Amino acid sequence: MHSSVQAGSAPVTAGCDTRAINRTRQDFSCASDVWLFGYGSLLYKVDFPYLERQPASVHGWARRLWQGSHDHRGTPAHPGRVATLVADTGAVCVGMAYRVKPATFGWLDVREKNGYLRQDLVLTFAGGQTAAGIAYIAPPGNAAWLGPASDADIARQVAGAAGPSGRNRDYVLRLADALRALGAADPHVFAIAALLRQPRDGSGGLK
Ligand code: SIN
Repeated sequence: MHSSVQAGSAPVTAGCDTRAINRTRQDFSCASDVWLFGYGSLLYKVDFPYLERQPASVHGWARRLWQGSHDHRGTPAHPGRVATLVADTGAVCVGMAYRVKPATFGWLDVREKNGYLRQDLVLTFAGGQTAAGIAYIAPPGNAAWLGPASDADIARQVAGAAGPSGRNRDYVLRLADALRALGAADPHVFAIAALLRQPRDGSGGLK
């Protein structure tokens, strides 16, 4: 397993492209494998190799659609909204842990470069065992940060956004489906998914 060279628990303000900073955040030189925690698109778009995977959770973090996406599910002019984790005492975020080789972070750093930093955290597996792991978290105040908004405003923004990876709407609906498949209740994501599933008015907007 990896050893950390940076505590990583304090939010760090990052520029939009986090590839260079992420390469400096952990020392994988003695690690044969590392646990990666996925909680957003990493749940359903698994375009990286892994050795095994297991449902897991992280304590003290809540999933929120508060990060802007200029590169996957939106554009610089019309950013979409994608998931990040925000510190929240008492919250538990359910996701998927993937055991990956350190080299896999080369691709993950590219995929998650829009404001996400590799964060050290503790994963809890279904049987209660724990392990050190890493999640990509976009901290408050990063250059692509959008922050909180009402469910209706988030749904409206999501409904109108699309980028190179497809419609923002599909990101949220696929995330909601993946969470249901995991048996994870997430009122924030489910509320926005429900709004997106409502019939639209003639202008293509949410009713
Ligand atoms: C994740 O899925 O773990 C990170 C956020 C995302 O790519 O949607």
